[in-house]
Order: sequence, then C-alpha cells, then structure tokens
Amino acid sequence: MKKRKIILDCDPGHDDAIAILLAGNHPDIELLGITIESGNQTLAKTGFNALNIVQYLGLNVPVCLGSPEPLIKEVEVCPAIHGESGLDGFDFDPLIRDFDSRHAVTFIIDTILNSIQPVTVVTTGPMTNLALALKLEPKIKLKIDEIVLMGGSYTNGNVTPAAEFNILCDPEAAHIVFTSGCIVKLFGLDVTRKVLVLPEIITRMEKINNSASLFFTKLMKVFNENQKKVFGFEGGPLHDPVTLAYLIDPKIVSMLKVHCDIDLSRGTSYGRTNCDIFDYLKLPKNIEIAVSIDVKKYWDIIEEGIKRYT
Ligand code: RIB
Ligand code: CA
Repeated sequence: MKKRKIILDCDPGHDDAIAILLAGNHPDIELLGITIESGNQTLAKTGFNALNIVQYLGLNVPVCLGSPEPLIKEVEVCPAIHGESGLDGFDFDPLIRDFDSRHAVTFIIDTILNSIQPVTVVTTGPMTNLALALKLEPKIKLKIDEIVLMGGSYTNGNVTPAAEFNILCDPEAAHIVFTSGCIVKLFGLDVTRKVLVLPEIITRMEKINNSASLFFTKLMKVFNENQKKVFGFEGGPLHDPVTLAYLIDPKIVSMLKVHCDIDLSRGTSYGRTNCDIFDYLKLPKNIEIAVSIDVKKYWDIIEEGIKRYT
C-alpha cells in the first residue's frame, strides 16, 4: 500500500508532541515536514520545541518556521496548559538540529506542488500557515488530498463557551480553510475530550520502557497537572494525536458531513465552529466532523506508536 504523504502543521504543545511521535515513525505515513506557528506558545518557543522533539525522537524531517501571529487577531498563548516553554516537563539535550531555511508557507506550497501524489495536510494548531498558503497559491487545492484538523467542536469551546483554542487563535484563517473547497475533516473537542490520559494510561505507556515512553510519560504528567488545575480533569484530553489516529485507522471514528461556518462576529461567539449537525439550514455540507471515537483503539494506536521507537 502507498504511504500517505503528510505535512504536519502544529504549535508544540504537549499533545502536538505526541502527534509528531505518531506521524514520525508509522509504516503507512510519510511525514514530509513539520510547519510551525504560534499558538500554545510564541513561535520562538513552539519552533524550538519542534526541533527538540524531532532531535530527541531521531526524526529526519524538515522543521519550517511559519507565522508568528494570526492573520488579524493578536497572538494568544496557553501557558496555563503547556507552561512557559510550551512543552514543560521534559529536559532535552543541547539542540544540534536547525530549522529548514524555507518559510512554512513556502514549504507547504512547494511540497504540495512538487509532489506527484496528493498530500494530506494535518493541522493541530491555529491554521494561519495553511490559510496563507491557500491564498498565496490556490493551485495547491488541486493536490491536497484532505485537510485533517484538530479544532472546534459542535458543542462547546474550551477557551470561551463557544470557541476552541485552535480556531479562536485565528478564526479568519479557519474561515479560509473551511471555505477552501478542500475536503476538511474536523476532530473537535466532542471526541478529543473522550481520550483522557488517565493514570492507568500513563502506567501502561511507562511499562514500554523506551525513549518514547519516557517522553510520553514525563510530558503527560505535566500536561495532566495543568489540565487538572484548569479543567479539573483526572487526565488531560490527548487532542492532537486523534488526527493521526484517524489516518492510521479511519474506522476509529464515525464522521458526519455537515455545513460548518466560523463565527467571525467578534461577539461572545467569536471563533465558534457553527456545525449544522441537524441540517436545519440545508446549506452545502463543507466539512466532515468526528462525532464518536473508539477509545480503546485509540490507546492501542498510541501504545503501538510508542513501541515503534527504541
Ligand atoms: O484545544 C486544544 C488544542 O489547542 C490542541 O491542539 C492544543 O495543542 C492546543 O493547541
Ligand atoms: Ca496543538
């Protein structure tokens, strides 16, 4: 079977780090590159976090810095969950790896246009880089297999009652992506809040006793402490790797085709993903949203991903 070629656009971020872990070493996935923007922390921090992650995991993939700020809004970061570094909880060796010289938007455009096979774009942070690429070179739409993103929800948010962090960081970018005409698959809080890194999950992954399990358990212990403080969760929702788990085993989720628009009203619902799951408005269905997830299979995929490292 042909490997699925992907670009992972992210804002590492504890859960982004596990998404990179899964993407970087799966027999069915070819990780063409990692593109970075601000989100969980400023670009300077998310960028170096990404370099540290690929260096520690031994992944030979380009890391390209992208947009330091959203299209319109001010930068918002999330130290309450991810800490001052954006990846608190793990001590990396001195950094040797460096960034690829290309801007993330240039990398996205060139990689997609030069690929013979269509490319899947996975985003697990704000969608500023992808939105800029779509606007700068619309031809990439013809060679994007699908856009698979963590963000939004058809219920509530996690920053405001209405909006989820990745979307609210750059609602205008999300609007560009959701109206692009590309196949958009959304993995929102409705399913990601079902996959909590409970203590028994940490114990299970710790037992693997390799470099990746140490990485997972140390990061998740801090992630969980912060999620408990902010949301009272017994385990943090491991949001971002749900995108990769879907690519690895699409049967892990059930999807619903819906019309979805992004609230750009600048009111209390700014950044909401308005998903018409009952098709009240009879508008064109422009996205697919995950409405359920097989939690057992998800943790099996995470465990298998960790075991693929030494
Ligand atoms: O709302 C969860 C999302 O926001 C995740 O991608 C997390 O990493 C943060 O970016
Ligand atoms: Ca993220």
